Amino acid sequence: MESVIKPVSERWSPYSFSPLPVSESVLESLFEAARCAPSSMNEQPWIFIYTTKEDHEYFNIFLGFLFESNSIWARNAFALAIILARTRFSRNNEINRHAFYDTGMAVGNLLAQATSVGLFVHQMGGFSVEAVRKYFETGDSLEPLAMMAIGYLGDGSELNDNLKLRDKEQRPRKPVSDFVFKNHLDKKIFLK
Ligand SMILES: Cc1cc2nc3c(=O)[nH]c(=O)nc-3n(C[C@H](O)[C@H](O)[C@H](O)COP(=O)(O)O)c2cc1C
Repeated sequence: MESVIKPVSERWSPYSFSPLPVSESVLESLFEAARCAPSSMNEQPWIFIYTTKEDHEYFNIFLGFLFESNSIWARNAFALAIILARTRFSRNNEINRHAFYDTGMAVGNLLAQATSVGLFVHQMGGFSVEAVRKYFETGDSLEPLAMMAIGYLGDGSELNDNLKLRDKEQRPRKPVSDFVFKNHLDKKIFLK
């Protein structure tokens, strides 16, 4: 088997982030990578709202959207972002059932770019969707999907023992044979 490219194989989601700032041009390169993603009807339904530690007031508002189990470590990251998807096509207002799929691909590009430039990203589903909806007055055609902490890797010194341990834990993956099938779908996927 050919080896997996490094921007994919070397990505992981840390709990420890360095206080080092990330330049705006490096951050912009992440969103530029997201911009390159393919999408159904070229709709590009992804939306990213980000802030950095340099904008204390906004950074604290973003931190407040997170569940405490996440804000406790995410506060150390240099940047926080919210990922949303526009769920209707702009040309006819019909439901775009590929909006989440496309947004995930944009995030995949962003992650690969982040890894390539030495940055780390930890995504979080643990945040208040309602608080984000209310604060940004999203209406119902924008769906807040996840948040992410972005920064350089820390040395763990800012973490409590529990989080230090979680940073060392393995995140095992299923074998490829569990989710890739040639010519047929193995019925074992329906067994628990
Ligand atoms: C949509 C999504 C939501 C996640 N939510 C959280 C979260 O709320 N808190 C957390 O600590 N990690 C969260 N994670 C990180 C995953 O736990 C992590 O990606 C997974 O365990 C694989 O580990 P790795 O990213 O280090 O390879 C989330 C990841 C994704 C993609």
